[in-house]
Amino acid sequence: MSNRVRTDLQEIAAWSRRLASVDLPSDMILGAATAAYQIEGSIAADGKSESIWDRFCRQPGVIADGDTGEMACDHYRRWPEDVALMRALNFNAYRFSIAWSRILPQGRGAVNQKGLDFYDRLVDALLAVDIAPFVTLYHWDLPQVLQDEGGWYRRGIADDFAAYADVVTRRLGDRVKSWATFNELWTFCWTGHAWGEDAPGFKDGAKGGLAASHHALLAHGEALPALRANAPHADLGIVFDLNVTAPASADPADVAAAGRFDGAQNRWYLDAVHKGSYPEDMLEVYGPILPEIRTDDLKKIAGPIDWQGINIYRRSIMAAGDDTPPLNFARVSPPGDYSAVNYEIYPPSIYDVLHYVHRNYGPKQIFISENGLAIADEKIEADGRILDLGRLKYYTEHLEQAGKAAREGVPLKGYFAWTLMDNFEWAYGYKTRFGLVHVDFATQQRRIKESGFAFSRLAARFRGVAK
Ligand code: FCB
Repeated sequence: MSNRVRTDLQEIAAWSRRLASVDLPSDMILGAATAAYQIEGSIAADGKSESIWDRFCRQPGVIADGDTGEMACDHYRRWPEDVALMRALNFNAYRFSIAWSRILPQGRGAVNQKGLDFYDRLVDALLAVDIAPFVTLYHWDLPQVLQDEGGWYRRGIADDFAAYADVVTRRLGDRVKSWATFNELWTFCWTGHAWGEDAPGFKDGAKGGLAASHHALLAHGEALPALRANAPHADLGIVFDLNVTAPASADPADVAAAGRFDGAQNRWYLDAVHKGSYPEDMLEVYGPILPEIRTDDLKKIAGPIDWQGINIYRRSIMAAGDDTPPLNFARVSPPGDYSAVNYEIYPPSIYDVLHYVHRNYGPKQIFISENGLAIADEKIEADGRILDLGRLKYYTEHLEQAGKAAREGVPLKGYFAWTLMDNFEWAYGYKTRFGLVHVDFATQQRRIKESGFAFSRLAARFRGVAK
């Protein structure tokens, strides 16, 4: 054994003990999250239709190395092995998403039973090993047929989403006790429609981001009655990616830019869902580029929910600039450590965002629905181990911060690591690895990383607490 490996193993043992003893609420939900397109593969199997990500990946130059989700982790076929891995990792819950294009290949209308069967089996297999399924209905993979009709720019998509939610919850609502309508509206609405880095790849600026956002929020609101009716004993929520935002300096221009960015990424969505209004200052900033907002829209959007999900990867420091008018911000990157997807590693970000949401919105329950670290080019040692010390430290320090917030009164109910296994990381392709489990994409061999073994020691304390 080389000196490097010996030193790493010693450090890993120490950090693993520290992670295993993090002080968390006694009924903590602990597991990992995934998304359908990032893991399933089998993109045309059993009647599935094309999604906007299937289409987007075929455009030259948009994904690193020209990768696609065609194979991904082959989870659609290897799911029993993956459930066994989750059991080995001692999860008491697992957050995953459903591919709309498997359930309603035409976007609406005829239901594809084989698509539903897949998720039905998965849910039963999870329950059989006491892992509570946390299901997200939309994690970015719109059926292409609906995109062809205008996608999230078309107001009527809200009704299509509600009908899709109805179909899924009629089948799974008896067993799944936690539902999220959407994952990260800010990301798919703005990155997909304002900046074009995600599907469907539109570069329509703030106007595009706003139109998509309003219709997606409306879709959330329109789906709630069906979810309540079909899953009366379940908790309903929505997942946002939130960054506490600070100005780069005391200069009033920077302070105002930070306020606008906070308004765009955080308050726009949180105010709508929890207060039933859009923030006044942002309505003024956006002015003429706002989409049509009808009288009852915000009432529907603010229908009661039971939990707020937070995906947290970083904080934001903003100065005045010319990015995305009329937001006019410039992101400032402070000195420090950065992940392979260029996010600053800053553990207090999770503590700050938990307090921000609790203080300003007071949802009954808060889940950290994603948090994790990307590392490029992880090495497999001669004995097959993956010594991902950086990830182990990341989880330890972030969970310590989350535990501290919980002790101070934030109703933190659960934490999902991003992610179970290395997967198709959107525009980054397979280059950046986020998993607790390593995937060799040539052979599909899975290997639990050292961070995964450490996580399983912590999670063992909470097995059996999820209902
Ligand atoms: C989040 C996404 C998730 C994954 C992580 C790294 O924004 O919800 O699918 O890509 O980032």
